[in-house]
Amino acid sequence: MFDKTEATVVKAAFLPPALAQRLDETCTLADWETLSVTEQNKAAQNARVLAVNGESVVTAEFIDRFPKLELIADFGVGYDGIDVAAAHARGIAVTNTPGVLTDDVADMAMGLLLATSRQIVEAQRFVERGDWANGGFTWTKKVSGGKLGIAGMGRIGQTIARRAAGFDMEITYTDRQPLSGCPYRFVSDLATLAAEVDFLVICVNGGDKTRALVDATILKALGPQGILINIARGTVVDEAALIEALDAGTIAGAGLDVFECEPVVPKALQGRANVVVTPHMASATHSTRKAMGDLVFDNVAAHFSGQPLKTPVNPY
Ligand code: DGY
Repeated sequence: MFDKTEATVVKAAFLPPALAQRLDETCTLADWETLSVTEQNKAAQNARVLAVNGESVVTAEFIDRFPKLELIADFGVGYDGIDVAAAHARGIAVTNTPGVLTDDVADMAMGLLLATSRQIVEAQRFVERGDWANGGFTWTKKVSGGKLGIAGMGRIGQTIARRAAGFDMEITYTDRQPLSGCPYRFVSDLATLAAEVDFLVICVNGGDKTRALVDATILKALGPQGILINIARGTVVDEAALIEALDAGTIAGAGLDVFECEPVVPKALQGRANVVVTPHMASATHSTRKAMGDLVFDNVAAHFSGQPLKTPVNPY
């Protein structure tokens, strides 16, 4: 396939053990976090591939430490933490893992939507506290037939829409432009979308272009009956504005898998009946994480074998 000694890889973030083992068996693998500074410098001098994950921060300065770098292989669909422009300027390819995790992330969005609207987590606390003996649980917000707004109609947005159609939801979306052939109603801006829907699901990419896209204005537009779901990136939502909106009853609730400063989840978002928080786990099922690992490996192997990359972010 390819020569192990020439296939130099630095693993600079958590990767599933099975993937790390496969890389170790077939490549010359250095595990950045376990190396001394001197060893890191040596590994950086030699590495042709840098393996990271969707939450990694890979700055231009960090990339510059790797003079022979040819590929940054990302275990994740999100690459907002990677300075792709800096990589591109140096002729370094970047790959990610799109497609294989779409179903899981869409499932999680629907799970959060249902759990938040129907207050399933709070209902469990209610049962466990023994409160049921004193009367039934509070009534909650109906999902089926509701109005769903999707911000970002990429693969994940489209898959959420298909699932939501099964709940007879009326679907509207926004994106940079209408998606050709997309059967759902398009609106051109997020504030209009938020004002029209009961549930707003955020599916846009992270990064500077979408930082704090969901701010106080959007939350106000979503309104006191509206529920926000975020399975994209924590940076897309102004978390302080969200907490204020929840305190003030400006919106009805939120289901969040991602946060501004992971793994820190503000205390103000915890323990609320109308907020469901999960630890950035949307794609974390056994089969999907295996498929993501296989795709990372296939990209690395393709690169070292001189074959076209499977899923390049920045095709040349
Ligand atoms: C992704 O694939 O980007 C997930 O959010 C995990 O990082």
